[in-house]
Amino acid sequence: MRLAASLAATAVAALFMTAPAAHAVDCPVAEGTDRWELNDEEVVALYDCIKDWMAESYAAEGDEIGSSYRDWAVTSTRPAVAGAHSERFLQTFANDIAAEQYLKFEEEGVEMPVGSMLAKESFGINAKKNILRRGPLFIMEKVGLDEAPDTMGWLYSGLQPNGKVMKVKQSFCHDCHVGWEAQDALAYPLPEVRLTATN
Ligand code: HEC
Repeated sequence: MRLAASLAATAVAALFMTAPAAHAVDCPVAEGTDRWELNDEEVVALYDCIKDWMAESYAAEGDEIGSSYRDWAVTSTRPAVAGAHSERFLQTFANDIAAEQYLKFEEEGVEMPVGSMLAKESFGINAKKNILRRGPLFIMEKVGLDEAPDTMGWLYSGLQPNGKVMKVKQSFCHDCHVGWEAQDALAYPLPEVRLTATN
């Protein structure tokens, strides 16, 4: 009995240790869809199709952020195309330490506390196949000036859609983000989709 029970326990543990392979999901997009022209309902419908697949994909290698960012505070009413980040649809999540300050979307004198983390999921349109495609999970972590003196204390990173760590050049990310210096290098979601504490 004991042996059988422990064998069963091992089998169960093995099941959980091997990350489930994220199954490809076909999310059809009407031919000729202009990503800039979609209304709220249309974007939400696309997101509803791809969101579970995205979360599974980022978690596929057991990455801590990739496995938990969906429990953080969502910061927009829906994903939106801002232009930067390869014209993908973007949706940012803020961890407990970041959420209160981030959700104010302040434009002056912003200083995010050390330990703040922002994870932004992304997806695009494969115009040849007329389906959605997953993009990377982009991550910013406030590690402080001692650790990241050249990037205002931010560490930039990312996960590929298969859950593997993306190679990121700090200056590539920061050279653009530094444009929002008074906002502590944060660019924020587009104004029309920002989720404020009051709405
Ligand atoms: C050409 C400019 C540009 C580059 C390069 C860039 N970003 Fe961004 N990033 C933006 C803009 C604009 C936003 C806000 C758009 C939105 O989320 O809708 C943003 C938002 C973010 C956010 C959400 C937090 C915030 O700023 O509000 C994260 C996380 C992020 N980027 C990570 C990265 C990482 C990691 C890299 C490098 C691999 C990178 N970015 C490169 C322009 C850029």
